[in-house]
Amino acid sequence: MVIGFIGAGKMARALAVGLVQGGITSDQNLLCSSRSAESGKTFLSLFPSPGARWTGDNVQLVRESDLIILALKPQQFPDALPAVREASAGKLFLSLAAGLTLEKIGAWLHPTARVIRAMPNTPMQIGAGASVFTGGPHVRDKDYELIERILSASGRAWRVEEKQIDAITALSGSGPAYLFHFIDALIQGGVALGLPEKLTHALALQTVLGSAQLAAQSTLSPLELAAQVKSPRGTTLAGCDVLEKDNALNDLIARCLTAAKNRAEALARGES
Ligand SMILES: NC(=O)c1ccc[n+]([C@@H]2O[C@H](COP(=O)([O-])OP(=O)(O)OC[C@H]3O[C@@H](n4cnc5c(N)ncnc54)[C@H](OP(=O)(O)O)[C@@H]3O)[C@@H](O)[C@H]2O)c1
Repeated sequence: MVIGFIGAGKMARALAVGLVQGGITSDQNLLCSSRSAESGKTFLSLFPSPGARWTGDNVQLVRESDLIILALKPQQFPDALPAVREASAGKLFLSLAAGLTLEKIGAWLHPTARVIRAMPNTPMQIGAGASVFTGGPHVRDKDYELIERILSASGRAWRVEEKQIDAITALSGSGPAYLFHFIDALIQGGVALGLPEKLTHALALQTVLGSAQLAAQSTLSPLELAAQVKSPRGTTLAGCDVLEKDNALNDLIARCLTAAKNRAEALARGES
């Protein structure tokens, strides 16, 4: 099966590496296209030569591929997709774009094209992504199985309803950036307490990593795990009191998710 990527940027590279490392396909079956040969070169450099191939011609890519992964920025779709409309008849597409509905993507392609829309996130680059996917009218069961295997090669994947995607974009699509901010705040807070930056950086990262792994492996809920370390009159309780006072942390995160979801809905309505 030939898998073609229209767009050879960060998400395309992350998925392509997962596909080869996960044994879904070999690099000889990968094709990519981009506007500049430069980003094609970066994609190809991930694989030993001769492996994956690059083309500057999206129509040729669609004709040669059994599955076409749309790894373009949402605003680049109107330039790229109309030209491949005829070649897209009956083909399977996977879009990674935030805010572009199945209806909108389908309207650029041939009416018989099978379109699945996914929302991945950047930890996919290290095989630890959280992805969801949902499909349009012509999608077959075996298409869903294929896409689940492809996304699972770079982390974990769930099939969802399209009406959930904007909220999921706000949660797991944008979530890595919230956590990077949280890690940075831990580092800055540690340095403000007089700790050396290098040590603070390492401690903050290991604390977040270890806590996520503990929460993932435990049968207890996150709040039960927190309660286990909050001894009466202890240091953790003193710290958590600040986060929990007037529901401060939960309110902040709720506002953050709502803002991101509103933005995803605005993009879906076609606002720039
Ligand atoms: N990054 C994230 O956190 C994240 C998370 C979830 C979903 N996504 C989605 O994943 C998609 C890709 O994002 P990204 O971060 O990988 O973008 P990116 O790094 O900017 O890559 C975009 C690629 O598209 C190529 N391209 C642009 N116009 C083209 C055209 N007409 N024909 C062929 N190729 C074209 C670009 O080529 P040139 O470099 O030559 O211009 C580039 O290789 C986006 O829709 C985004 O919403 C991203």
